[in-house]
Formats: sequence, structure tokens, C-alpha cells
Amino acid sequence: MSNTIQKDLNYKKFVIDSKLQYFKPHASKIEKTFAEEIYSSLNRNSKFITPKFFYDKKGSDLFEQICTLPEYYPTRTEIAILKSLQTELPMYLDDTFRLVELGSGASVKTRIILDIFATMQASVEYIPIDISEILAESSEQLLKDYDNLHITGIIDTYEGGLEFLENYDDKKNLIIFLGSSFGNFSPNEGKSFLQKINSTMKPNDLFLIGLDLVKETHILESAYDDSQGITAQFNLNVLSRINDELEANFDLNNFSHYSTYNEEYQRVEMYLKSLTSQSVVVSKSNLLLHLEKNELIHTEHSHKFNLSQVRNLLASTGFKIHHVWLDDKKHFSLTLASKN
Ligand SMILES: C[S@@+](CC[C@H](N)C(=O)[O-])C[C@H]1O[C@@H](n2cnc3c(N)ncnc32)[C@H](O)[C@@H]1O
Repeated sequence: MSNTIQKDLNYKKFVIDSKLQYFKPHASKIEKTFAEEIYSSLNRNSKFITPKFFYDKKGSDLFEQICTLPEYYPTRTEIAILKSLQTELPMYLDDTFRLVELGSGASVKTRIILDIFATMQASVEYIPIDISEILAESSEQLLKDYDNLHITGIIDTYEGGLEFLENYDDKKNLIIFLGSSFGNFSPNEGKSFLQKINSTMKPNDLFLIGLDLVKETHILESAYDDSQGITAQFNLNVLSRINDELEANFDLNNFSHYSTYNEEYQRVEMYLKSLTSQSVVVSKSNLLLHLEKNELIHTEHSHKFNLSQVRNLLASTGFKIHHVWLDDKKHFSLTLASKN
């Protein structure tokens, strides 16, 4: 089956105007996947909910609030590094590149790169890929501020978006993956994912990845447990989402946010703790769930890296590194690479 026909079967296309179109899997497929994944991740001894389900409209809005918190250093640090690339990044680009972004969210950091593209191109093409509906809203916002922009959004998983991109055309892509979202993968999943990105890339494509670095435990722990409790709301919101979309009856008062830095595995671990022994029904997943008092549901890992791990990770998944940029405190890294 040709790639185009496959895309037509898998996605519904929304053409907003001559500058904005987006593709989204059919609603029935999204709900079925959500219900099935929740069934298999909660119907086991060590329970988990994958972090991609955090991002309904409310979850995406809460994440944007997290990005502005004093404790959440990754966003402002990565923005500072991106802003320092205004003369260096163009040295690797030319006027034939398109910008592709994995997990684009509110597309705030994107603007710094779009500004760089705008100095080189009369017309800029941008393909954001994000599982959240926030993509449509942030694309419309970008188009208000950039006259020369054309957007094709993919509202789907990273993997779905990469498959969409594969064989899309011959144009060169700068693929960006910011916010250390890569840190949510387990080491094995992460390697497979980088290999998938690598195999999607053409020889002249570029890949820019933002990765958070190992640092003092107190800085890491407060970034994921802020004093205003926004991260706690973000974590608990996934249960509200399951209530709304899968007809469940989680009582949010019976859960609390818990996070800790695991030094051995170099990751911040985030959980929802059951405050009582309780039963919950998730109707659309056909699931009756029993939780003991203090039982943990794992919701996110945020792996942190040191620089030699960043280099090894990229080298072992088929990349050649062109440059690694850091902030003054060496808290965060941005690495530009291409296929080896
Ligand atoms: C941590 S936020 C980062 C947003 C932005 N890139 C930044 O650096 O601030 C992760 C973004 O990736 C999206 N996302 C998470 N898991 C995803 C997945 N498996 N596939 C596609 N998008 C995903 C979320 O909806 C969210 O917008």
C-alpha cells in the first residue's frame, strides 16, 4: 500500500486555510488505544500510567504553568541556550530546511528557531508533532505572529508523526526534540526511539535534542515538587482525565503526588500515592482496580544525563555529533547531530 493511501486511512485531515492544515487519527482509534493502554498498565502488580496521557487540554495548560515556576529550571535554561545560538545555528542550515518538532506543546521555544529560519527563508515550513490538541491552538497562535509560515501539524504520538514524515518528500528537515522529553523513556525505549528517528532521517537532515543533566538532588527534587503545588495538580489531573474520558470514578482526594530523585538510575520518579485502601472502576477499560493504602502508581520517569552519556547515546544510535551547547551552570544540554 502506498504511503499516501496509508496516511489517508489512518488520519483525518483538517484544512483550516492555505497556511494551516493538520492530521489527526480517527477519534475511535484514539479512545480505543487509551482504554486498552490504561487496562494493561493498571491491571498488574506494579501499576503505571504512561506520561503521554498527561496532556489533555488541562494537562497541557498545567504544563505551561510548570514551565514558568521558579523551581522549574529546565525551560528557562534551555531557552537561554537556544537564544545564544542565533549566530551559530545558521552555520549548519540553509534556505532549504524545514522545521519539524517532536512534542511541540505550546511551541514557545519553537519561536526562537523560527526567528532564525525567518532570517534565512522567505517562506518557512513547520511540522509540529504532538499528541495533545494544544497543537491546533499553538499553531494558530504562531500564524498570527509569523507572516511567512506554513504549518502541517500531526496530532499523534511521536512514532505516528515520524512514520508520517518518513518518505514525505525530499526536503531537508531540522528535527527538534526539546524540553528533555526524551528523559521520559526508559534507557532501552530511548535507544530504540533514537534509532527510529535516525532511520527516518535523510542524509542531510539535522537533529537537535535538549537533554537535562545530572545536578544536585535538591534542585532536581524541587523542580518536580514545586511550592505552589502545580506539579501535583498536573500529576493528579491524569486521574481526572481517565474519569472524564474512560468513565472512571477515581476520587482525587484519595491520592497524593509523590516524587523523588533516584540517584542510582539518574532519574526523577513521579508517582500517585493511594492514601487509602480503595476500589476504582474504569468502565471503558472494563477494569475494576484495587489499590492498597500507600500503593504507588508510577506516572513519569525523568532521566538525567551526564555529557559522556549524551555522547555515547547518540553515537550508539547512529548519530554524528556536530556540537553540544551548554548553559553557564552546565544544567542543560542542546546537541546538534546528523546521521552518521
Ligand atoms: C514536557 S512537554 C515539552 C513541551 C515543549 N517541547 C517544551 O520543551 O517545553 C512534552 C510535550 O510532548 C507531548 N507528548 C508527550 N508524550 C508524547 C508522545 N508519546 N507522542 C507525542 N507527543 C507527546 C506532550 O503533549 C507535550 O506537549
